[in-house]
Amino acid sequence: MDYLLWLEATSFSIWMRESGVAFFSTLVFHSVAMGFVVGIHIAMNLRILGCAPGVPLSLMTRFFPVLWVNLVVVSISGAFLLASYPTKAFTNPVFYIKLAAVAAALFITWNLTKGVLRDPVHDTVRAPRRARVLAALSLLLWAGAITSGRLLAYTHNKLLASDPF
Ligand code: HEM
Repeated sequence: MDYLLWLEATSFSIWMRESGVAFFSTLVFHSVAMGFVVGIHIAMNLRILGCAPGVPLSLMTRFFPVLWVNLVVVSISGAFLLASYPTKAFTNPVFYIKLAAVAAALFITWNLTKGVLRDPVHDTVRAPRRARVLAALSLLLWAGAITSGRLLAYTHNKLLASDPF
């Protein structure tokens, strides 16, 4: 708990907590960037599952620059939100479920990028079963990441390390 007490006493953490503009603009950046990250994944996974067969699958990687930029924004804004109420997140199991879902979903993206997204034969031929299973799993993981992210505000046991109870 000592490092949480130290972190919460830093001027940056205090500023993030006490400045409504800082906290809520960070939350807006987090929400919008997550919308791009998850939105691109939904389109890509639905294409792998067979939606919009007229769209060449390999073209989905054209969205990746937007994906990587928004992953940086969602991570930085997430770290800022974390720095504002570290105890709230670190003592909440839902936070670890969320980060695990995000990490697993990104691992699947890396796997699909090395495989089905790189091979133009799948622009016109149905994606292999393994890729379709991974795409369906990825959709479930992103739904889990968003749900657990949203529930963070309601499931915490402790708000600040300095709280007496
Ligand atoms: C693409 C990945 C991510 C998704 C989909 C995601 C999703 C969400 C969602 C839906 C919320 C609720 C927003 C709201 O209350 O309006 C949220 C809040 C939050 N996220 Fe993320 N997030 C992601 C990455 C991260 C990362 C990498 C971190 C930490 C390093 C993080 C830390 C937080 C924190 C601390 C909150 C605030 C919870 C609260 O106090 O209300 N997120 N996230």
